[in-house]
Amino acid sequence: MIDTVILEKEILSAINSANDQDIIEKIRVEELGKKGRISLLMKELSHLSPEDKKEKGSKLNNLKNIISDSISKKKNELVDVELNKRLLKERVDVSLPVQAQQTITGKIHPVSQVMDEISEIFGSLGYQINEGPDIETEHYNFNALNIPESHPARQMHDTFYLPNKNINDESLVLRTHTSPVQVRTMEKEEPPYKFISPGRTYRCDSDQTHTPMFHQIEGLVVDEKTHLGHLKWTLETFFKSFFEIDTIKIQLRPSYFPFTEPSLEVDVLCDRSGSVLKVGEGSDWLEVAGAGMVHSEVLKAANIDPNKYQGFAFGLGVDRLAQLKYGIPDLRTFFNGDVRWLNHYGFSFLDIPTLSRGLKK
Ligand code: DAH
Repeated sequence: MIDTVILEKEILSAINSANDQDIIEKIRVEELGKKGRISLLMKELSHLSPEDKKEKGSKLNNLKNIISDSISKKKNELVDVELNKRLLKERVDVSLPVQAQQTITGKIHPVSQVMDEISEIFGSLGYQINEGPDIETEHYNFNALNIPESHPARQMHDTFYLPNKNINDESLVLRTHTSPVQVRTMEKEEPPYKFISPGRTYRCDSDQTHTPMFHQIEGLVVDEKTHLGHLKWTLETFFKSFFEIDTIKIQLRPSYFPFTEPSLEVDVLCDRSGSVLKVGEGSDWLEVAGAGMVHSEVLKAANIDPNKYQGFAFGLGVDRLAQLKYGIPDLRTFFNGDVRWLNHYGFSFLDIPTLSRGLKK
């Protein structure tokens, strides 16, 4: 059997003179690999007497450990050498011109912008802002608004019902409109009322013009002498200011809502002949709001005497108004969370001082 001392010298000197990682790997395979020299010598041990086996076996094991340690030490050395070589080659040239960093500043979403614009306009007309919860009871979302269980309007609302009831055993829904805030306010405070209520609303519906979550602004004015003329003036004043067109024309069409009597729908004059819909021109009409005089049943449900008080209510679709004012074609893109879209349609924070003048920035 080969002398392990000579073998050790031979292999260590080969390891020592190796100057790249491939050579080291070759040595490892040739000496320690399955068919390597040391492995073959190990196999030969089986032919020896037990005493020789013990003695030679321990020497071979020793040799194996020494070689294996020496190989990994050399490997690490070579990795370091190569890294240093690369670092020297790839040195940063500090004299090169600086690359411009792309700074990402946030933008205000058109829905937030339009919510603010509408709030500012009504604020200047003396309206307060009242908010209500997104999860409503059937009572506030329907019953107290004169939409009883059997009413066909319930089916038209494509309601999301929650699986559990609240602690008072009332059925819960995601509010289908912002009108419940009317009832909540009337129950809590004494008339007169003059407020708007912006917020999220939900319906189980999705196509190019509907998203399951959308935004509305409810308005309510109740006083002893409020009448339909006030409603007409308010809507006209609002749309003039919102679309930034003094000559804007609106038309009030008879309609039906369970919570108003009479009920009406509000259209603005527009031109659909070109590729972009233009508000305030042409001879077409576009529906932009629902409104009416508050139904006596709604006042009664909130313990308000309809013989003393009367008023009007309206509901605006915020996303629709944002689409119209800023020419955004597909409603679904509003809620995709695409930063490029927001960069294009969003508003700069610097526009805030001219909140209700989004077009004339
Ligand atoms: N709540 C109605 C809806 O979502 C909108 C509406 C219509 C609100 C007429 C009103 C109103 O206050 O008077 O379809």
